[in-house]
Amino acid sequence: MINEKPKYKRILLKLSGESMMGKKDFGIDPDFIFYLGNEIKEARKTGVEIVVVVGGGNIFRGVAGSKEGMDRTTADYMGMLATIFNGMALQDALERINVTSRLQTAFEIKEIAEPFIRKRAIRHLEKSRIVIAGGGTGLPFITTDTAAAMRALELNCEAIFKATGVDGVYSKDPKKDKNAKKYERITLEEAFKSDDIGIMDNSAIDLCRSNTMSVVVFNIYNSGNLKRAVLGDNIGTLIE
Ligand code: GTP
Repeated sequence: MINEKPKYKRILLKLSGESMMGKKDFGIDPDFIFYLGNEIKEARKTGVEIVVVVGGGNIFRGVAGSKEGMDRTTADYMGMLATIFNGMALQDALERINVTSRLQTAFEIKEIAEPFIRKRAIRHLEKSRIVIAGGGTGLPFITTDTAAAMRALELNCEAIFKATGVDGVYSKDPKKDKNAKKYERITLEEAFKSDDIGIMDNSAIDLCRSNTMSVVVFNIYNSGNLKRAVLGDNIGTLIE
């Protein structure tokens, strides 16, 4: 029997930039973002408060830009702007299904979004609004996974829900090795030390590890998974 009470009071949902592409090769797929909005809406109905951090790799990836000769800091700022594009697209999708949200950015572009103000973000969450944190941390050389870990910690979230295209954490890459074994539960220490578990970069996992922030890894492409994970169903991997 499904217990409809959420296991968590407040979570941070980390969406990759790739997830905004849907089936496209680049950019934004409004249909898929509409699907993501509905997944968030269903999860929100359980009463859980949701902060969302979106990556930007579907539009621009700072590391890739710098490999092609760009200044790394400039490239990273472009990547941060890409996360704001995605945040705007997600907010648009949420508005279309009557889910109230607030987009807050790590650096000011006031004509477009609110600046990130921690206590204001918390008030929005308490009023059942989805808070979309755009622009990463506002600092170069930092991934959006690390930004997600930082926002989750400062907004007192109980867990990071890392949305992926696989069902959880495997011993090897399940797309390359059919003998890969899925873990139901591992420790943050194991995730940090293992070279084979690449679910988040090490600085993000290290932040979680040193501050005991759990990470739930789950497949966002299966409809209903986000809600089930919020309810505490064992559908992915719990890193704690
Ligand atoms: P409450 O005070 O709790 O009711 O929150 P609120 O967000 O509804 O109040 P506010 O009147 O501050 O915001 C109304 C709308 O303006 C919301 O959609 C905000 O996201 C938006 N908003 C607030 N501050 C800014 C800003 O600095 N820039 C932009 N672009 N929008 C803002």
